[in-house]
Formats: sequence, C-alpha cells, structure tokens
Amino acid sequence: MERIVILTGAGVSAESGLGTFRDTDGLWTRYDLEEVATPEGFTRNPGLVHEFYNARRANTLAATPNAAHVALARLERDWPGEVVLVTQNVDDLHERAGSTALIHMHGVLTGALCAACGHRWPAPRAMNMSDLCPSCDRAATRPDIVWFGEMPYQMDRIYDVVARADLFVSIGTSGEVYPAAGLVEEARMAGAETVEINLEPTRRPGLFDEVIAGQASRAVPAWVERMIASKGG
Ligand code: OAD
Repeated sequence: MERIVILTGAGVSAESGLGTFRDTDGLWTRYDLEEVATPEGFTRNPGLVHEFYNARRANTLAATPNAAHVALARLERDWPGEVVLVTQNVDDLHERAGSTALIHMHGVLTGALCAACGHRWPAPRAMNMSDLCPSCDRAATRPDIVWFGEMPYQMDRIYDVVARADLFVSIGTSGEVYPAAGLVEEARMAGAETVEINLEPTRRPGLFDEVIAGQASRAVPAWVERMIASKGG
C-alpha cells in the first residue's frame, strides 16, 4: 500500500474552533446557504456574501492547526509512498501545519477572484464589493470560493490521484456534498481500500472497509502512528 489519498472536511478543523456546516449549531443552521454560498445569492446581495466570508476569514486567521492537521503533515513527510490531501475546507490550516501536496477543491479564504476576468490575487483581510480587480480594474471581486452550483477546482487532477490510490481515507466530512462525496466510490472501483475517520459513521455500511469513530484530534494522530509503524518508521 503506497499511494494514499485523503479527503478532509470541516470536522478536521472543528477542534481548531472553526464551525462545521451540518452539525447542530453548524453554519448552515445559522445562515441560509442560498444567500451566502451561491452565485445567485452573490448577485442579489454581494455585501452580505462578503460579510459572511470576511467573518470566516477572521476566524481562520485567529485559529491554529490542531493535532489532526499536524499528524496529516507528518504522514506526508514520513510515509515512504505518495500522500495527497484533497480538502473541502477553505481554511489554510493544512498548509500552516506543513502539508504541501494539497488540493483545495472548494477554494480558499485567502484568495480573491475577479468574476469579470478570472484574475486571482491574495485576499485582503476584509473584502468588499467596491474592491477593484488589479488586472482589469473592474469592481467584480469575489472570494475565491466554490459555491453551490459551481464546479469544484481541479477535478481532473483529483480523479486522477484517486484512480491511482491504494488507500482512500475520508476524515471529518458528512459525505453530503458531491462530487467530493462520490470519491470513495471512485476509489473503491479503482481497487483502493477505504477508511473513514469521523465523530460517527456517516455512510452506508460497507462503503468503508474500516470505520474509526472519534474526534479528529485524537483519532487521526493514532491512525497516522499506526500507518507509519506498519512501515517500520
Ligand atoms: P459537514 O458539516 O457537512 O460535516 C462535518 C462532519 O464532521 C460531520 O460528519 C461531523 O460529525 C464531523 N465532525 C464534527 N466534529 C468532528 C471532530 N472533532 N472530529 C471528527 N469529525 C468531526 O462538513 P463537510 O462535510 O466538510 O461546501 O461539508 C462539505 C461541504 O459542504 C463544505 O466544503 C461546504 C459545505 O457546504 C461549500 O461551501 C461549497
């Protein structure tokens, strides 16, 4: 077992103080996702959408990686084969923990994107609707976040790494949002073993070969330790 692909979701960052989406008191119980996480919502009320992501950017800046992020960076460093992290999270806690082989399929809070010309640049702490694009000079600045109804980033590359995986691990995600939720089936079809690490089992029995129930900050370091020990590390 050499190539590992890991899909992470909001549960990995929960213990860093960043909220999840669908748990009791999750973001989608307090905000209407149609208003803050769709292109239509942004057209209707860009100020509200910027406010929502400005608040999330501020929370992320104040947060620090937890033991789960740190363990996944260690796995990339110490595993003799390839480790690729595919994250649905828009925070930057994986990279701050040291992960480098990382794909942000739902975009990043640290990025700004011009809706008019597609130019990308580092987001300021607070963005607003009058910000001008440094390339085309138009006021069409949006967060570089994938909204509902938009295609996640780098799907070709993601399907490619999943098709080559020997082991696929899903951590801290409810499996409610596609195409991310379908990657486990892709991995199984390609012959990979599958593992889920989550507070509780999320999906139909048998979809994952192994299910580890627990908090990411404990369960992920323990699993990484076991993986590295299995290679004599
Ligand atoms: P969800 O909020 O849907 O699911 C988070 C999962 O993490 C749940 O299954 C929780 O049980 C689990 N969890 C919570 N705390 C945990 C902990 N400490 N340790 C381990 N697991 C824990 O979040 P995602 O699956 O990431 O998309 O959501 C997927 C996408 O839906 C997001 O990327 C976002 C959202 O709408 C966009 O904004 C496009």
